[in-house]
Amino acid sequence: MSNFESVSTVLKTYDQQHIIQFWDKLDDNEREQLLEDIQNVNIPEVVDMFKKTIKDINADKQKLDDKMKSIPSELYGSVSRSPTELLNSYKEIGLQNISKGKVGVLLMAGGQGTRLGVSYPKGMYDIGLPSHKSLYRIQGERIRRLINLAQQKYGSCKGLPWFIMTSEHTMEPTREYFAKYNHFGLNEKDIIFFEQYMLPAFTFDGKIIMESTHKISKSPDGNGGIYKALRDRNILNEIKKRDVMYLHAHSVDNILVKVADPTFIGYCISKSADCGAKVVKKAYPSEPLGVICEVDGKFQVVEYSEITESTSEKQNSDGSLTYSAGNICNHFFTTNFLNDVINKYSNKLKLHVAKKKILCVDSEGNDCKPEKPNGIKIEKFIFDVFEFSNRLAVWEVNRDEEFSALKNGDTPGGKDNPSTSRLDVFKLHRKFIEKAGGKFIRDNIECEISPLLSYEGEDLERFVKGKMYDTVLELKSDEEISLNNCNKN
Ligand code: UTP
Repeated sequence: MSNFESVSTVLKTYDQQHIIQFWDKLDDNEREQLLEDIQNVNIPEVVDMFKKTIKDINADKQKLDDKMKSIPSELYGSVSRSPTELLNSYKEIGLQNISKGKVGVLLMAGGQGTRLGVSYPKGMYDIGLPSHKSLYRIQGERIRRLINLAQQKYGSCKGLPWFIMTSEHTMEPTREYFAKYNHFGLNEKDIIFFEQYMLPAFTFDGKIIMESTHKISKSPDGNGGIYKALRDRNILNEIKKRDVMYLHAHSVDNILVKVADPTFIGYCISKSADCGAKVVKKAYPSEPLGVICEVDGKFQVVEYSEITESTSEKQNSDGSLTYSAGNICNHFFTTNFLNDVINKYSNKLKLHVAKKKILCVDSEGNDCKPEKPNGIKIEKFIFDVFEFSNRLAVWEVNRDEEFSALKNGDTPGGKDNPSTSRLDVFKLHRKFIEKAGGKFIRDNIECEISPLLSYEGEDLERFVKGKMYDTVLELKSDEEISLNNCNKN
């Protein structure tokens, strides 16, 4: 049987023959592309996924109020409620494990960044800091600083591998960008890129949508696609081979992210957790952040839409919100837990559906730009493995120190955009300087500290103590200063 015949048999079996409806009009090149595209999609599997998700869309969903419980207090730590000695002891555990090479970073950078609206990977975005460093660069330099701190304290660091999940659109530009900037001074061998998989979009009646006459419309399978990618791209084996026992997984778009945060890692290790989540206190009950809690005895992220208003507004005796553990896509996993998830549970992960306007072709093969949603995209979420955890530890951090998401383009008064991200960096870094004995003449002075100098405000006294700043302050490392001088000469 020819390639075309075998493909068309599969398509017929799964009622997807429309995919090859323009075959006679395609040239050889286009035919080849289409065949390759079809072969890259596991048609039986994705059609099955569609059936499951449609059942889910149509199900009469019960609210979760009666089944919910807060996370038990012994597994709900907090930066603001922990004494300094305890925080230092967590940090020490984390840093020691970093020095032994037991910690890795899992970066989720496969999203399409549609709301931000740039054509290149979000990690390459420059939010307009004085240094014009991108998100990738800032995160890479935070890793370098941590390696440095571990070396200073323990005499050596075996390495802090950085596993970066990209997708079809972000892989090549990301690789090129890292190479162009010499991997930000990190060891190239410790940066491992891998690509997540794509899923086709479907019409509401289950037909795979065609983006053109010879191309299936596909998008990345969500940040929960990381589990399949870790398994099928052989990354879990690489993690094991390197003897990494703990992973810090986070999104690419939080400018304040403490990459491989030793305090968080040390906290999770000392709680013997197999899985952990950093959270911030929800600012108000309807804030669009899922909350981490227990549902029927299992850990879960519950969205605002899944509970009634009165439950979301429920308060403790001190006036704080009962369900306030706002999930920020920042997690801890042991390698053993990832191994279990990947081998036992990855097919049980929930599928989430979003109705979207999806570019397509009409029955004549002409391009169409729909004005209302014409289909669905299916995604998996990283946090949907919480239910498989035996012991999930939650770590509440201060929002102004650790969380400022970049989701949208700049608009006046807008949220989670380049301007808010920038202002959040300035505010935090001014705080670091003031704590180290420096002063600002006004409280809106732009201030940026290179991650190569300080990870979280440490070691700044020698530069700033007793100084008064009245204009933009950019604190750079010696390496950056000499590089700047070289560039000027
Ligand atoms: P978001 O859900 O905010 O998506 O991703 P996004 O792609 O950044 O932006 P929009 O929704 O298109 O505007 C949260 C994190 O998960 C990653 C993103 O790169 C980001 O770090 N992600 C998302 C993936 O790695 N893969 C995906 O398929 C989706």
